[in-house]
Amino acid sequence: MPYSRHILWIEDSDNSIIISDNVTIEGAHIAVTGKGKKVTIGNDCMISYDVTFRTGDSHAIIQNGKKINDEKDIELSEHIWTGQGVTILKGVHIASNSIVGNGSLVTHDIESNTLNVGFPSHVIKNNINWSRQRFL
Ligand SMILES: CC(C)(COP(=O)(O)OP(=O)(O)OC[C@H]1O[C@@H](n2cnc3c(N)ncnc32)[C@H](O)[C@@H]1OP(=O)(O)O)[C@@H](O)C(=O)NCCC(=O)NCCS
Repeated sequence: MPYSRHILWIEDSDNSIIISDNVTIEGAHIAVTGKGKKVTIGNDCMISYDVTFRTGDSHAIIQNGKKINDEKDIELSEHIWTGQGVTILKGVHIASNSIVGNGSLVTHDIESNTLNVGFPSHVIKNNINWSRQRFL
C-alpha cells in the first residue's frame, strides 16, 4: 500500500505550489511561507515519502535588530529523485536529473546529474542519471 500523506501549507499571501506533468509524490509536506513565494516541482520528478519543502523558517531570526532569514523560492527542475525523509530548505534550486538520498538536508543549490547525500547535503557522485525502470 503506497504511503500518501500530503500537507500543502500556504502560510502567507500570494503563495503558490506548481507541480508539473508526470510528477509522483508518495508523501510531502510543502510549506510555502513569505509573501509571493513559491515551490516549483518540474516535469517527471519522483518525490518519496516524508519529504519536506520549506521556503522559509516560519519565524524570524533577528541579528542586530534585523531579520536575517528571508524567505526564498524553491525550484526543482526536471527529473529529480528525492529519497525518503529529505528536507529542502529556502532558496534551493535542484538542477535536472539529480538525486538526493534518504534523510538528507538540502540547504544549497544542487547541480545537474549529481548524487547528493548528507546533513547538509554534498555531492558524492557526478555524471549520474536515474530511471523509474527497475532493470530486473
Ligand atoms: C536553522 C535555520 C532556522 C537557520 O536558518 P538561517 O540562519 O537562514 O541559515 P542559512 O540558510 O543561512 O544557513 C547557514 C548555514 O547553516 C547550514 N544549515 C542551515 N540549516 C541547518 C540545519 N538545520 N542543520 C545543519 N546545518 C544547517 C547551511 O547549510 C549553511 O551552511 P554554510 O554556512 O556552510 O553554507 C534553518 O536552516 C532551518 O532549519 N529552518 C527550518 C525551520 C523550521 O523547521 N521551521 C518550522 C516551523 S517552527
